[in-house]
Amino acid sequence: MKNVLRVVGIGLALVFVVAQFFRSPRNTGVAEGPDSLVAREKVPAEVRAILRRSCYDCHSDNTVYPWYASVQPVAWWLHSHVSEGRAELNLSQFSAYDTKRAVRKLQAVADEVHERHMPRKSYLLLHRDAKPSDADVALVTNWAEELAEEIESR
Ligand code: HEC
Repeated sequence: MKNVLRVVGIGLALVFVVAQFFRSPRNTGVAEGPDSLVAREKVPAEVRAILRRSCYDCHSDNTVYPWYASVQPVAWWLHSHVSEGRAELNLSQFSAYDTKRAVRKLQAVADEVHERHMPRKSYLLLHRDAKPSDADVALVTNWAEELAEEIESR
């Protein structure tokens, strides 16, 4: 039994070492370029700061990677979250959304933030400063609802 455990342990250690040679793609573009939400629409400075602090890592073209993001299998896991998050909502490419989609996305932002589904819990465990305060939640929710209405009425 002891030998079996030793072999399994060495096997796992080897897998871990070999995994380090596989790099995951990195999301290192420009967060607030000409097609971004903040360049296209009215976003008050306070709201912009909250989006930057709490959302951009998974919903923009630029992720700030912590040191452990280079360690596999963490890198794969982070990459899958970032890809999934950006596929659902990319605040750097907001101009690509037509009116209907833009309105739906902003309403979703209001709902997700209001219900505290976003940012994700696993993210907040490691990014304590990204947790929105009650005032932040109210600010983002009201702003997103108002902007959705404004875009819809254009
Ligand atoms: C750790 C990564 C991460 C962070 C940080 C994060 N999200 Fe997300 N978000 C995701 C992922 C992954 C999905 C898609 C799966 C899901 O809905 O859970 C998603 C989905 C969403 C959706 C759903 C889009 C739709 O069309 O239904 C909205 C809206 C959203 N996020 C808004 C936000 C906002 C606003 C913030 C910041 C306050 C934020 N998210 C922070 C990862 C993240």
